[in-house]
Amino acid sequence: MNPVEIIRKKRDKQKLTREEMEFFIKGYVDGKIPDYQMSAFLMAIYFNKMDFDETVVFTDIMLNSGVVVDLSDIPGVKVDKHSTGGIGDKVSIILAPMVASCGVPVPMISGRGLGHTGGTLDKLDSIPGFRTNLSLGEYKEVISKIGIVMIGQTKEIAPADKKMYALRDVTGTVECIPLIAGSIMSKKLAEGIDALVLDIKTGRGAFMQSKEDAIELAKTLIAIGNRFGKKTIGFLTDMSQPLGNAVGNWLEIAECVECLRGKDVPDLMEVTYLLGGAMLMLGKKASSIEDGIKICKEAITSGRAYKKFLEMVEHQGGKKEYIEELSKYPKSKYSKSIVSKSDGDIVKIDALEVGLVGIILGAGRMKVDDVIDPKAGIVFYKKVGDSVEKGDTIAILYCDDEEKLKQAEKRLERAILVATEPCTPPKLIYAMIDEMGIHEWKQ
Ligand code: URA
Repeated sequence: MNPVEIIRKKRDKQKLTREEMEFFIKGYVDGKIPDYQMSAFLMAIYFNKMDFDETVVFTDIMLNSGVVVDLSDIPGVKVDKHSTGGIGDKVSIILAPMVASCGVPVPMISGRGLGHTGGTLDKLDSIPGFRTNLSLGEYKEVISKIGIVMIGQTKEIAPADKKMYALRDVTGTVECIPLIAGSIMSKKLAEGIDALVLDIKTGRGAFMQSKEDAIELAKTLIAIGNRFGKKTIGFLTDMSQPLGNAVGNWLEIAECVECLRGKDVPDLMEVTYLLGGAMLMLGKKASSIEDGIKICKEAITSGRAYKKFLEMVEHQGGKKEYIEELSKYPKSKYSKSIVSKSDGDIVKIDALEVGLVGIILGAGRMKVDDVIDPKAGIVFYKKVGDSVEKGDTIAILYCDDEEKLKQAEKRLERAILVATEPCTPPKLIYAMIDEMGIHEWKQ
């Protein structure tokens, strides 16, 4: 087979066969197909899509590019969660230990920052010593010992996604339903789960900005999960403004630690409890989502979830002292406050712009090999719907480079809008989606 022929075929809007996709993806993983041909292939898919059957085959090939982990010897229903990506979306870091502390094993394989969005892996990597690159043997050992493990794709698990994810990030080929579906589901189906909860983001900071596209993505992901025999449900949630207050890797870990210790960051915790409730229901530890939410709240107030988080940090090599004493962590050299220039209500904090500002500050990557500054980022003190007076601090930016800080400040100022008309915060949870269809979610 000739890679150019396969690229041309997709470029000309034709359906690819399993053999063609297998040849291309395996060839890429083995280093026989270079980045430039894979980039062209991904761009052809970006423009001409894949139908559902092609997407299922694509996912299957990605999934079987490595080991499919068998965790059947670990008792209980293993449940994971995955978000389609957003700004300040640190939910997994609170959610996984919270759910594991309620008796549902959570084996989690996450990704790095992609495009303008942050990645759970980069956040966890900001914890000194924390190893997200466990071997398969270590992965199984940790999950069977403590009921939780959080790692990245390894060369053993979904290696095709590991390589293609990094390439998509820098070739403008992220925002594409079949590629996102194959990427997410190959990782999730390979990690040894029995059930999956998805958080499908919509709004300015999401890959699928419109609700229609987000629903199509949700339906594709859920259909793939169920096709592969894993009970999969999803929630459509807002990503028009950042979730929670912190954006940036260590800043987000610090926020998660505070929430695990009982601090209420309302939007962040509402999404976390909802997804946790659903995971407990799928994990057969709660009779309904609402029942699961109650159990999750108790896991936070009792300190059980925080204890489980510390246990995971320890088992994955992290230095617990930085978690126990957050102020020990090094600080950025420079900081800058964004203050309100007038009285009014915050009517917009553009999540996409915030993500791009984060990249300028050093919290994300522009190129595959860019090194992240774990300290860099933004902390918001006001969110959409909050009232402000002239001179109130809306956000503080952190960076080690003064020039970049200036650039970021100007851009963030333009991303925030204060107006005199009153503004209500956006709806946070729009709908629940399962095999049966879309169900409006009443808050
Ligand atoms: N998250 C993933 O794991 N993959 C994507 O393509 C997008 C979000």
